[in-house]
Order: sequence, then structure tokens, then C-alpha cells
Amino acid sequence: MSVSTQWWQEPVIYQIYPRSFQDSNGDGVGDIPGITTRMPYLANLGIDAIWLSPVYKSPNDDNGYDISDYRDIMDEFGTMADFDEMLKVATEHNIKIVMDLVVNHTSDEHEWFVQSRSSKDNPYRDYYIWKDAVGFEEDGTPIPPTNWVAAFSPSAWEWDETTEQFYLHLFSKKQPDLNWENPKVREEVYDLMRFWLDKGVAGFRMDVINLISKDQSYPDDPAVAAGAKTDSLVMAANGPRVHEFLNEMYREVLSHYPIITVGETPFVTTADGLLYTGFDRDELQTLFQFEHMGVDSNPDAKLGKWNDTRFELVDLKRILSKWQDDLSGKAWNALYWNNHDQPRAVSRFGSDSPEHRVRSAKMLGTTLHFMQGTPYIYQGEELGMTNVFFDDIKDYNDLEIHDSYEKLVGSGAVSHDDMMRYISASGRDNARTPMQWDTTENAGFTTGSPWLKLNPRYTEINAKEALADENSVFYHYKKLIELRHAHPIVVNGTYKLLDADDNQVYAYLRYGQGESEGQVLLVISNFTDAELERDYGYDLTETQLLISNYEDAPAGNTLRPYESVVFAFKA
Ligand code: NOJ
Repeated sequence: MSVSTQWWQEPVIYQIYPRSFQDSNGDGVGDIPGITTRMPYLANLGIDAIWLSPVYKSPNDDNGYDISDYRDIMDEFGTMADFDEMLKVATEHNIKIVMDLVVNHTSDEHEWFVQSRSSKDNPYRDYYIWKDAVGFEEDGTPIPPTNWVAAFSPSAWEWDETTEQFYLHLFSKKQPDLNWENPKVREEVYDLMRFWLDKGVAGFRMDVINLISKDQSYPDDPAVAAGAKTDSLVMAANGPRVHEFLNEMYREVLSHYPIITVGETPFVTTADGLLYTGFDRDELQTLFQFEHMGVDSNPDAKLGKWNDTRFELVDLKRILSKWQDDLSGKAWNALYWNNHDQPRAVSRFGSDSPEHRVRSAKMLGTTLHFMQGTPYIYQGEELGMTNVFFDDIKDYNDLEIHDSYEKLVGSGAVSHDDMMRYISASGRDNARTPMQWDTTENAGFTTGSPWLKLNPRYTEINAKEALADENSVFYHYKKLIELRHAHPIVVNGTYKLLDADDNQVYAYLRYGQGESEGQVLLVISNFTDAELERDYGYDLTETQLLISNYEDAPAGNTLRPYESVVFAFKA
């Protein structure tokens, strides 16, 4: 590939949410041996690396994002021997493994926290964030240090009777925040990172890594004071020492290994992005920004992500193009449409109707994979898996869904029926229904009783049928990956948006650099089910068609429903 790109800019990375991928022992929960058996499927798709959501020991309050031992494997997922075998088989298939690093918080069942909460003078006390009550209500209820609302519970502070202090938890009360001000905590984190890197993993996706440095004055959250019903995570975002900590992590650990890093960073602008990932910054290589995930968030900010309004394409284009332009030549994007926390892309940005699902899923793949950055595929995206609707709240597992239901329906802010619609549009379980492998009972995911219900559309949408159909979404994604591997311009080309005000079509150019200097790509995607006329001023008869989501040739300047085409030509 081009001399100017690094290996971590070139791969396509596939995210596995192990709980929902493949069960091998009939207990209804996906596991590591299950992933190993599916390695040939992933090699056939052509991916270069897997981002593995957490597999560490965990009591599963937040499905593995609450870790009780960073050096061991969750019982339901298998053993360390199973992990080593998976790593070996992945390597044989030329697939790297990127681990999830969850170090803003641990589980409350982690030994450090068990020690920490046992007494005020325990050596582990300062591993977490403990504060006195600022006063007491008349009935004796202690008043927390700030008004912060946690992501998965009403208050971010939990009173601990034993030592009569509050501890901070930005997420559930079973996920106490680590105290990064304490150098010993940072050393422990660097050590556990080395443990996994020395095993041969290829890097880390870092969970909410921009929340690790808290403003030591602990101010109140003005949004909560104004009546917001969701959470106060923003109060911990991009804190005073975060760059110092990441720079230290880079010096101590990251710079010593040839690895890939991607930070999960809510509440970042492109200016923040440059600070975290600038080529000259020695912090992270890439980050997951969230601006495009907020494109359809509720105009009534009090309800946050809970709504079912449709995004506007001009907004999506503006946000993604801003990231493309502002990072160009200075830093590198991570490209994604969905993950284990987001609804399914085809339902959200395309169409999941039987008529348009396949075509629009391919269109979304093309639109994303031809931008500049490292693309991620979330399990099942390559099949065009869709959102799900359960009519009983009990069928949902996710603690965020249940907590938000309590906060919003419980307080009377939203009706039950509206909330059920919002959950089906935005809830995290849309991404977490088990992988759809075939048409047998439970879609070949498990022979037991699945931990979360299957999406009933598995009889129509599954890997077995996709593999048997040369026009499936699967083969379209396979071709996208092949094109990236074959044409340096897909990796290194610069980006230019066309027609920013067009609310129906997303069109952009890529200009080759270095070895692909003089080459141009024109990417055109119709985001609607209508037939449209568009003329970008190029003689398309003089171009090479690299990929299309229609079987027959493009029809001149006419774009058919959800049509997506990429043309290559010389400047
Ligand atoms: C972000 C993760 O992606 C999400 O699944 C998790 O609940 C929170 N961080 C807390 O770890």
C-alpha cells in the first residue's frame, strides 16, 4: 500500500459482541469457541481484524462492560485456553484481534473495589472516587456532592453505609469510576494492557476513554438543574488531565507495540478529535466520534436519544464531511454506521422494507467504505440485519432501556406506547439480538434458549441464504473490502463533498495521492426510494464502474431507488 499510510489505516475491522455471535455449548449465550468456529466465515468476508467487545470476567450488570478481573475470561464465554485457541485460529486466517479496554470504571465486584469500600484507610481506597455527603435531608438521607445523573441509574453517586461516603459511578452503581488522579491506578491499567499485548493482541478499542479525567472541583450539571432527564456524562468529558493521561499511556505502553488504537469519545468536536488523534500528538490513532449518531436525537434535549424522528441527509452529510475535512492530513477517522450501542443502520439510515432492504444496506456500505478512514462493520451489518420490535418491555434485556423507561415513563414525561416505539427505534437491544446464521430454530445461534429473543426476520435474513445468493449484502461488503485492499486511493484519497444542500443524494469525490496521484473516484448514493436525475458534470462513459448495487448498468444521469455507484477516472 502507499508509503504514506500506516498499517492501522488500511484494515477493515469487524466488531463482535460475543454474547450474541455464536453459542457453542447450548447455554443460550454466545462464547469464544463459537467465535473460533466462525473464523472461516469472517475470513471469507475478507476482514483484517476483529474488535472484540469485552470477554473478561464480569458479573454482567452491563454485559461485560463491568469487569471484575481484567486477566481472566467470563465463565459464560469460556476459558483463557479458549481465548488462546481463538487468537491462534484468527492468526492462521490473517485476522488480528483488537480488545475492548474498559478502564473508566470496573465492576463493584472487582477486588480493588471490594478492598476500597471495606475501610477508609484501605490501601485501595484511593483507587476510586469517594466523597463526603454535602449535608443531610431532614429524614437523614445523605445529599450527594453533585446533582449528576448516571447513564444507567438516577444518581451518579451511591451512598456506602460501611464507610459513610458516596462513590462516583457515571454508569450503573455496579460500575464505580476509577480514580485516574491516582498514579497507582494508571500503573495498574498500563500493566494489564501489557498483559494482553504480550499475548499478541493487536490493539485496543478504549471504552469512554475521554471521561477518565474529572474536574476536581466537581461542578453541578446545569442541564439537570434545568430539568434534563437523561445523563450527566458530558460533565466528565474531555477533562483537565485527559491528554496528559493519554500521552503517558502512549509513552508507557502504546508506543512500544505495533498496534491499533481507537478511543470511544462521546462529546467531541473535530477540534477535540485533533487533540486526541493528531499525527503529532502521541495519544490515540483514531476515535469514534458521536456527532453523526446524534443526527436524529430528540430536538427536546430533555429526552436525549429517545425518539423516532428520521434524520435529514443534509445534516448527516454536513457532520461526516466536517470530520473528513477537518482531520484531513492531520489525523485519521474511524468510520462506522452502527455498533452494539446503536440501532441497526439499515433501519435507521436506509430502509428495512422487504422491497428496499438489500439495496439500501449495500448503498450504506458503499457510502461509508469509500470515505477516508478505517471502516468498522458491526456483526450482522454485512447481512443487512434490521431493528426489532418487542411489544413487552420484559423482552428487552438492556439496563439502559429499563433505566430510561423508569426515568421517562416513570416520571410521566413520555407515555408507555411512545417509549416502546422509541426503544424500537433507538434502543441498544436492536444491535444485540443474536446473529442470524440460518433458518433453523434460533437461527443457528444456539441449540438452547437464547439470552435475548431473536429478531423474527431471521427466516428471511440470515448468513446461509446470503452466502448462497451472489447478489446478497454479504457479497457486496466482501467486494467493498476487496476494493479497499486493491486500490490505494480508497485508503489515501482526499475527500470532497458535492452538493452539500442536496437532501436526497450523498455524492463525493476522492482524489488520489502519492502512488494514486491523478486518479479520481466519484461516489454517488441515492438515499431515497425515488428515481432522481443528477448531473455532476462528468462524462460517465469515460469512467470505470468500480461497484454498484444494481445488477444492470447505471442508467445515465438517472439514479434508481437507493442506487449507489462508484466511478473511477483520471483527473
Ligand atoms: C460504552 C459502551 O460501548 C457501552 O456498551 C457501555 O454500556 C458503556 N460504555 C459503559 O461501559
